[in-house]
Amino acid sequence: MTSSKETFEELDPSPRLLMGPGPVDLYPRVLRAMSVPIQGQFDPEFRRYMTQVMALYRQVFRTENEWTLMVDGTARAGIEACLSSIVEPGDKVLVPVFGRFGHLLAEIARRVKGEVITLDVEWGRVMEPGRLADAIGKHRPRVVAMCQGDTSTTMLHPLAEAGEACRQHGALLFVDSTASLAGNPFETDAWKVDIVSSGLQKCLSGPPGISPVTFNERVAEVLRRRRHVEQGIRPPDLEDGNGPIIQSNYFDLAMIMEYWSPRALNHHTEAASMLYAARECARVVLEEGIDAGIARHRLASGALRAGFEAMGLELFGDARHRMANVTGVVIPAVCGNGDKVRGEMLTDFGIEIGTSFGPLAGRIWRIGTMGHVCRRQNVLRCLASLEAVLRRNGVTVPAGAGVDAAAKVYDAAA
Ligand SMILES: Cc1ncc(COP(=O)(O)O)c(C=O)c1O
Repeated sequence: MTSSKETFEELDPSPRLLMGPGPVDLYPRVLRAMSVPIQGQFDPEFRRYMTQVMALYRQVFRTENEWTLMVDGTARAGIEACLSSIVEPGDKVLVPVFGRFGHLLAEIARRVKGEVITLDVEWGRVMEPGRLADAIGKHRPRVVAMCQGDTSTTMLHPLAEAGEACRQHGALLFVDSTASLAGNPFETDAWKVDIVSSGLQKCLSGPPGISPVTFNERVAEVLRRRRHVEQGIRPPDLEDGNGPIIQSNYFDLAMIMEYWSPRALNHHTEAASMLYAARECARVVLEEGIDAGIARHRLASGALRAGFEAMGLELFGDARHRMANVTGVVIPAVCGNGDKVRGEMLTDFGIEIGTSFGPLAGRIWRIGTMGHVCRRQNVLRCLASLEAVLRRNGVTVPAGAGVDAAAKVYDAAA
């Protein structure tokens, strides 16, 4: 192959308004935080930033967990670190599947040789009360792994009872809060969730690439038992545990714990700019106040949904269990799989919206109102643009009805 000497142009991405299921536009302060000089992870000043990040995310996760830290990699990295570190070969893992990301949890648990039992739920619904507790009693899993919000269906699963049901039968509860954290209530300690992972690219309005994780002492005990320190860095006073080694090196939470501890045992080179981003996301969210942020997400999605309904569109999924940050809209039959409408939203209006996966691919659009994007101007821009695109694509839409209905919701809340 002849080598090309082309160096290409300087990056200059077209302006977009990211109103899909994530990623979303960054808080400007987060972008700025990513442009400050990096430091090495053993610099005492940088260690202070790491400690601050732990303290900030304890507040975001609403937990007293000492072990509140970052796994470098996208949200899936956090999930994989949690599951590969707590699931031992042969462990029973119970996974409620109410969308694509439940399947992801099951898939990761299987790869680490868990014996996976799924509880399948129709996409667009959540489990009826009592079903999870019954299944825990029946199967006696060692781990229950579930999503709070499954972005693929836009459903938010109630969690308040899951933790207690797990405690009664000695199971550990893992929750993926990637899509829901900071836009919907999440109470790590009050709900007795043992281990949680998340991502920045949804309601925290940061870039994908680092995953906040928190876990309690029940989990820390499992990890200490599975600790096998890498040769070449072992301090003389650190013993290995007698449990089975965690199969992944990069996602070994037992080693990541030591890396984040005052011992600062080396593991990976910290993704410094991502850590700065995570720090600033949490600062923005906490300065607004978590409850105020959740209220802002509820208001925006409430206004957006009122707008869609006024336009004659059908909302997807069980209305009692919708996430406050992503809305599913059934694609009108005349729009086929909806891709042309999505394309025109992007090219004519600079607005990205999403479709879904699997059985919902080409059946629903998913429109996110998250983080920095979650504000009145964007809700109205999206509705006005969609109205124009839909009309052009053969959908009859009452002129101005969507924007008027959404503005009314905002005005009533003012
Ligand atoms: C609920 C949920 N879990 C996990 C993920 C995976 O995140 P990532 O793509 O950052 O690895 C996503 C991404 O959309 C998600 O919505």
